[in-house]
Amino acid sequence: MRKPLVIGNWKMNGSQRSVGQLLDGIAGVANLDIEVAVCPPFVYLAEVAARISGSGIRLAAQTLSEHESGAYTGEVAGSMLADVGCQYVLVGHSERRRLFGETDVRVARQFERARGAGITPVLCVGEDAAERNAGATWQVLHRQLEAIADVAGWEALGKSVIAYEPVWAIGTGATASPAQVQAVQVRVRNLLGSGGGATRLLYGGSVSEANAAELFAQPDVDGVLVGGASLQAEEFMAICRLAVGGSWKPW
Ligand code: 13P
Repeated sequence: MRKPLVIGNWKMNGSQRSVGQLLDGIAGVANLDIEVAVCPPFVYLAEVAARISGSGIRLAAQTLSEHESGAYTGEVAGSMLADVGCQYVLVGHSERRRLFGETDVRVARQFERARGAGITPVLCVGEDAAERNAGATWQVLHRQLEAIADVAGWEALGKSVIAYEPVWAIGTGATASPAQVQAVQVRVRNLLGSGGGATRLLYGGSVSEANAAELFAQPDVDGVLVGGASLQAEEFMAICRLAVGGSWKPW
């Protein structure tokens, strides 16, 4: 069975004070029979790790360096993320790809660094509006997935978490329809081959309390990657409760 996974990506938001308040507000998710992770900004990772210790909430990072260690000012290594207790790390988020020039090749190296540090990569893939309108959605996703498989192998890809995040749905309020998401997820799972049955496939892009239930109802949506709504404790809690309703998916 694939256990539902809800990840809150806080992006570059918050302060020491607000992070504490948010964690207090979502403490109840620990009682739900799903997996929940939060991705704070780097500077708050250690503090969040201490606060969630023993709660069942998992720690995740928003990105990591493609390098192992050394003279890379400003970078954070996978081993450091493991050292402070991260179990997951996002790789290839579209904001990293578009705003910070992360290429498929670089994302593949980051993916490998995460695995090398014993952290499960959450690979983010997705097309932008122009690519979707041109009918190139699958072409883009296939390229992004294959770039990782070329370096890490399909089996390793199947052991990661894959988040479909269409760029046009991120922070726009324009969610992909459940049918659009399911159509993509099924193709991703088929591409993964025999190992793909156990892979958790998430959806991200304007997920909210209002649309989460119908997303979780899709047979190949195993969880969500939540941006804006993860900063509101009540709404994040509500999304997590709806994930329980989506139940575990057999394979
Ligand atoms: P929003 O939920 O704010 O659209 O962000 C999605 C996202 O980018 C999560 O990684």
